[in-house]
Amino acid sequence: MPKICKVTDKLGRTFEYNEGLEGVIATSSEICFIDGEKGKLLYRGIPIEQLAEHSTFEETSFFLLYGHLPSRDELEAYESRLKSYRPITGEILEFARKLGSLAKPMHLLRTIVSAAGVFDPDADNNSIERNAARAEELIALFPTIVAALQRLQQGKEPIAPNPDLGHAANFLYMLNGEQPNDYAARVFDICLILHAEHGFNASTFTARAVISTLTDMYSAVTAAIGSLKGPLHGGANEGVMHLLNEIGEIERTEEVVLEKLRTKTKIMGFGHRVYKALDPRAKILMQFSEKLAQLTGNEKYYNISKKVEEIMAREVGAKGIYPNVDFFSASVYHYLGIDTSLFTPIFAVSRVSGWTAHVLEQLHNNRLLRPRAVYLGEFDRSYIPMSER
Ligand SMILES: CC(C)(COP(=O)(O)OP(=O)(O)OC[C@H]1O[C@@H](n2cnc3c(N)ncnc32)[C@H](O)[C@@H]1OP(=O)(O)O)[C@@H](O)C(=O)NCCC(=O)NCCS
Repeated sequence: MPKICKVTDKLGRTFEYNEGLEGVIATSSEICFIDGEKGKLLYRGIPIEQLAEHSTFEETSFFLLYGHLPSRDELEAYESRLKSYRPITGEILEFARKLGSLAKPMHLLRTIVSAAGVFDPDADNNSIERNAARAEELIALFPTIVAALQRLQQGKEPIAPNPDLGHAANFLYMLNGEQPNDYAARVFDICLILHAEHGFNASTFTARAVISTLTDMYSAVTAAIGSLKGPLHGGANEGVMHLLNEIGEIERTEEVVLEKLRTKTKIMGFGHRVYKALDPRAKILMQFSEKLAQLTGNEKYYNISKKVEEIMAREVGAKGIYPNVDFFSASVYHYLGIDTSLFTPIFAVSRVSGWTAHVLEQLHNNRLLRPRAVYLGEFDRSYIPMSER
């Protein structure tokens, strides 16, 4: 149940509001349905389990943007457009080189996407056609930017995209310079599908609020990246990996988790504003974590994750706190050889499809998103000259 706050202002007027906007309906949308009690997630009507089993990230992102599953011709044309948009321009690469060793990946990604708007002379053109093309460009560009940033930080040259590879395989290739095996590429592809969209989460709401002023898509997506970075949102997957490393040995799991609960420290990767049952994405990711643990012969992270899950179910399961999408994605990414600092940027690589779909939907029937706050400050103060303070 939403936490309802009842407050009285200094004029004696009483107001009620849902803390953290929990449960508040801000607008309507046809993109995503979540049943938090039953642990159900649909993208435009199709259950996430079906998309994870049968679709690709390319097809799913087309579906999110345009509202229908593409025909074979439409999908091939879309895939080839994405491939043509993958390379980053010399200006952006040069800018990335200058920033390369200065900051953490999410700060860099946010700044580079903002810079992409600077380098686009048509950035303020909000026509439907231009914004649809821009959404595709951003979806195609994000993996190249994230991989280039990672390599620059490692003192290596960025690797040019490989047009023979699909979206997921190409990203792993641009990171490591090696073509991933088919299983790794498919698991990563499914991870991208699972993270692509999730209704009015904080970053998507941010993107919609920003675009509702009729500014430009780069501004909306830049703001969304800033929102995703937070540890209560997309930043949690990195927090999970730090937790697994902090635990280190399965025998220490009980002690570490109980101490965190005792001190009211949040266990990253657990709990959700909407789900009060197991997040259906976590269920799928758990299976990949188990399989990858067996394939890599390194079961430690999967085993610790399962132990954390067991303890949390026992201690706080009754409060509806279950693993969310971030919990098992941490060990999956680790097993795929991805550096922990890239976990949240990878979330962005996928979620940019949801953000841009929402930006297009918001613009389709726009009304400025502008809520209010109850003013609890003073009413009858007078300005005091500096000399009298
Ligand atoms: C996602 C999240 C912000 C949702 O929070 P929320 O709806 O505001 O819920 P609250 O923070 O008010 O938590 C409600 C209760 O559950 C507890 N709780 C929620 N998430 C918890 C977690 N991850 N670990 C331990 N306790 C948790 C709170 O301590 C609180 O307990 P109380 O009622 O005894 O004080 C929260 O669950 C969280 O911080 N999770 C960890 C970060 C994370 O994984 N984020 C990714 C989300 S996809």
